[in-house]
Parts: sequence; structure tokens; C-alpha cells
Amino acid sequence: MARAAITAVGRFLPEDRLTNADLEKMVDTNDEWIRSRTGIRERRILWDKDKATAYMATEAAKDLLRKRGLDASEIEAVIIATVTPDMFFPATACLVQHAIGATKAWGFDLSAACSGFLFALSTGASFIESGRHEKVLVIGADKMSSITDYTDRTTCVLFGDAAAAVLLEPADEGYGILDTIEQIDGAQADLLCMPAGGSLNPPTHETIDKKMHFLHQQGRQVFRYAVEGMADVSVEVMARNGLTGDDVRYLVPHQANLRIIDATARRMGLTKDKVMLNIERYGNTTAATIPLCLNDWEHELRRGDNLVLSAFGGGFTWGAMYVKWAYDGDKVAASAEAEMVAEG
Ligand code: UT7
Repeated sequence: MARAAITAVGRFLPEDRLTNADLEKMVDTNDEWIRSRTGIRERRILWDKDKATAYMATEAAKDLLRKRGLDASEIEAVIIATVTPDMFFPATACLVQHAIGATKAWGFDLSAACSGFLFALSTGASFIESGRHEKVLVIGADKMSSITDYTDRTTCVLFGDAAAAVLLEPADEGYGILDTIEQIDGAQADLLCMPAGGSLNPPTHETIDKKMHFLHQQGRQVFRYAVEGMADVSVEVMARNGLTGDDVRYLVPHQANLRIIDATARRMGLTKDKVMLNIERYGNTTAATIPLCLNDWEHELRRGDNLVLSAFGGGFTWGAMYVKWAYDGDKVAASAEAEMVAEG
């Protein structure tokens, strides 16, 4: 079976920062609580009301295409992981396909909350593995500020806006996405959800008055499931591929809470230098956290590095993936920089 490899990455971050000091002026919270309980110092917010998830996903895709020197018409499928689509329909994938000029692509949105990118990546990989496609664009994008209640201190300190993209192509033998574990369990669906706006509770004055169009989370309970679920699948994917902590170059974790990530890394036998962490700067950007990490660490990644991607999110949804990185990131980063200098 052909394998799929990530062969390029790109990202978009809004310029505006929302710091812990800013939040202290909005709700009854403080920098020390936020940092010690979550690990977050600031997040990026797309305040512009005319721009949303499709815009961010488009910019991330353009960044990737520019770095890879690829024309959008070569893309065969666009899969967008998001829980904050611009609209229920058309799919955000359609808006992005048009905006980047991916004239030969089909695609769709995938909803799996914080595990969305992982599930989209494994879905995209299966199109490559089956031989159906050779170039699949997978994007994680969320404008979390659009569903965040900035009067609720238990959730508004957690989330940020961002998008990041990866390209999947057929891998050389032994490289790419080598194993995936995915799980869902709807038994605790109400612990992390957006109660209204769908067919069960369509928008009414009442749903708005009751703030049912915002994200709701029972944080402490979700924490308990997340800390166990994310570590369990990460350890399992290592075990069934015969990997020890020494073999893993990086854990690429969903960034919901520093304490969940630390616990996962400990169970995997990893030292702190082997964990990609950007929660401090961006908060929880839902579907964007994992590809954002891959983008930001690209220059350090080398062909043959063993990565474990892992996530846990609303639903519940969770999973882990074993990836043997397929290219030397320093070369791409250097050539992209040279190109930007040349373009002025
Ligand atoms: O990304 C998808 C999945 N989501 C997650 O993985 C998130 C999982 N949950 C968490 O990360 C954590 O539960 C939170 C960061 C959301 C909360 O941390 P916690 O340590 O679980 O706090 P808690 O909810 O148990 O609250 C402890 C106290 C409470 O006060 P009392 O009842 O002990 O007096 C809260 O009211 O902290 C209070 N609190 C705050 N204090 C200052 C809650 N939010 C804040 C705040 N600032 N922003």
C-alpha cells in the first residue's frame, strides 16, 4: 500500500493579540491563574467581522502553496477541519477552493472539534493510500472567538483563532503516516458543546438570551477524560510500533492545556525538549493547533524523524498518529526565506 506523507506546511495567524492582562479587564481572572492552570499567556484574535474561518484557511493554503512552489490547480482535494465554518453550508472547503483557485479539486468540511485536524489528516491520507489522489490539502482552521462568550471566565481565557495547512502526497517507502488510532464516544457529548444553532435548537430569541450559541464546557470533567484519553492513545501508538521515548523526536500534541500535554509526555517517557508547545502564544485554536506546531517547528524537522501527533476534544473525539517525517525542514524554510527576500 502506498503511504501518505506531509510534504509542505503553511499557516495564518491574525495580528491582534489578546493577552492575559487584557482578559483581566474583561472578566474576574488573573494572569497567574491562567498561566498556572492552562499555560497560556496570549492568543490571536481575528476581530474583523468581515473575515472568518475561510479567510484564515485560504491564507494558510496560500502560504503553503507559495513555500512549496505549487499551483493551486494541482490540488485534487481540500479537506477542512473546523467547528466554526463560515456557514453551515456551503462547506468552508468550497469557499477556500474558489479563493485559492483549486479548479480541479473537490472537498468537504470535517467536524471533530479538537481532534478535527487529526481525523482530517487520516481521511486525506486514505485518499493517497487508495491511489485515488496524489495531492490533498488538509487544513485545520477555527475562528473560536466567534463562539466564545467573553463574559464567561471559565472558557474565554482558553481559545484563540488561527489556521494551518499541510499537503499530503505519496510517500517514499517507509516514510509518512505509518499508523493511526482514532476514537469517538458520544456518552459525554454535553460536557463540551455548542448547544444551539443546529437542527435541534435552531436560532430563536430564547437561544440567544440563554447564550446557547456559545461554546459550553464543563472544564474539570473534560480535563479528567482528556488527560487519560490523550496519553492512552499516544502510548498505544508507540507500543504497537515498537517505539520507546528515545525513538520519538517530537510529540505534536493538541494544545488545550499545558498540564494535559505534560501528563501525556510523561506517560510516553519524553523529556520536555521533545514536546512541541505553542499554547503559551496562541491558546487553544481547536483544529489549528497541530498543523500550527508542524509549521512552527518545520525548520527543525529532518527526514526520518519519528513524530507522534495526538489530540483529544469535544464529542468526545480523540486519537494519535505515528508519522515518519518525510523531508528536511531547514531546506524548505531557507529557500522560502530566500524567495521572500528576492520578491522584496
Ligand atoms: O480542547 C478540547 C478539550 N478541552 C480540554 O481539554 C480542556 C480541559 N479542561 C481544562 O483544561 C481545565 O479544566 C480548565 C483550564 C478549563 C480549568 O482548570 P481547572 O484546574 O480544571 O479549574 P476548575 O474548573 O476546577 O476551576 C477551579 C477554580 C474554580 O473556583 P472554585 O469553584 O474552586 O472557587 C473556578 O471558578 O478556578 C475558578 N476559575 C477561574 N479563576 C480565575 C475558573 N476559571 C477561572 C479564571 N480565572 N479564568
